[in-house]
Amino acid sequence: MKLVVLANREPVRRVEGRYQVALGGLAAALYPVLARRGGVWVAWDPGGSGERIELKDLLVVRVPLSKRRVAGYYQGYANQALWPLMHLFLERFVYKQGWWHDYRAANRAFAEAALREGGEGALYWVHDYHLSLAPALLREGGARRVGLFWHVPWPPLEVLEVLPEAEALVRGMLGADLIGFHTETYADRFLEAARALAGARVREDAAVVGGRRVRVRALPIGVDVPGLKEARSRVLKRAEAIQKAYAGRRILVGADRLDYTKGILERIRAFRRFLERWPEFKDRVVFLQLTAPSREAVPAYRGLKSRLFRLAEATERRFPGAFVHHYGALSRDELLAHFAAADLALVTPLRDGMNLVALEYGLVSEGLPVLSRFAGAARYLKGAMLVNPYDEAGTARAIHRGLTLSAAERERRRSELLDSIERLDVGAWAEAFLRELS
Ligand code: G6P
Repeated sequence: MKLVVLANREPVRRVEGRYQVALGGLAAALYPVLARRGGVWVAWDPGGSGERIELKDLLVVRVPLSKRRVAGYYQGYANQALWPLMHLFLERFVYKQGWWHDYRAANRAFAEAALREGGEGALYWVHDYHLSLAPALLREGGARRVGLFWHVPWPPLEVLEVLPEAEALVRGMLGADLIGFHTETYADRFLEAARALAGARVREDAAVVGGRRVRVRALPIGVDVPGLKEARSRVLKRAEAIQKAYAGRRILVGADRLDYTKGILERIRAFRRFLERWPEFKDRVVFLQLTAPSREAVPAYRGLKSRLFRLAEATERRFPGAFVHHYGALSRDELLAHFAAADLALVTPLRDGMNLVALEYGLVSEGLPVLSRFAGAARYLKGAMLVNPYDEAGTARAIHRGLTLSAAERERRRSELLDSIERLDVGAWAEAFLRELS
């Protein structure tokens, strides 16, 4: 059966004038299954040309959207209304009347483009909060098999209900035959919303609406386990050079998109507390915070950027040599080399659907992650050091602990960590989802 993926972001990058499948992430994960089935990927066309991209084994169909549409659909409804609500940041929720209209229109444009490629018989796989209405639109257009994977958290009903269109959103999603979330908690909360807002009857792991059964399952995503193991040997030399550059200091690493959900400010403050409480580490460690630019057209992100820069500069001044902030995108291998060089990763989002940095770090390095208990990954990763990222003193203690573990405990935690990461292979995840769907 032909597979048609719908996701806001396209799975390709332009390298020296030619398109390539993007490394890492969803694109790399789905490419093998798409290639096998003769796949199509429908995505937003950021250039607006409407050009189709034909790669070996993969056709990318781009949906052109006007500037105004993007402002309402992507910068507005998706990233200022849905994103904060899904991550329980009620105070960041912004609502403007016209955005919903753009969101619906964009979802319709995606569904129509997908149906033109796939027809009734294809298997449709919709991704994430940008496209919650697409499942129902695809079904109305004749699609017979539709899956949806929700990559972000799903909030409790009291939070969801803040959204004036909560019912329409849930009904849109219920157009799918199978809805996947990262954790049982998100899946259970969704079933509760389906019952309360769409009048669904809930039967174990399914919602029954209008005579149709929609399965709702926890299917946590993972990373490319064999690919990352291979990457480790490729980046080891560069990792050694990074270690040399910091002259024997033990390295801590943080890597995130610049986003208020990631807890970057709290993490830097926790690191400062750690150095204040254990000053003997001032000359023995360096914390490298690698921040990638993100969603710069959204006001909340610009505000965060200036606060982060102020805190980072003050920290670099206060603890010379012990803290470095790098702002900008790194190549995939450069990022992995930093992971391989680090003794400890600080993966401390305030809320995260899953968080794959902890998994990538675990595979590429020989170290341990200090991991937020509010990331979906905390449910699955044994051996990680769990923290509440709002508790900066607690995070400081975990950093200290991570740097002073006995060799035996480090070994034990490493082996638990690797076992649990190996169970989360992204290729297996994609196969499992599609198996359930078809
Ligand atoms: C999160 C979302 C993805 C999104 C990514 C980057 O991980 O779940 O759907 O693609 O952030 O954000 P951006 O807005 O740049 O696509």
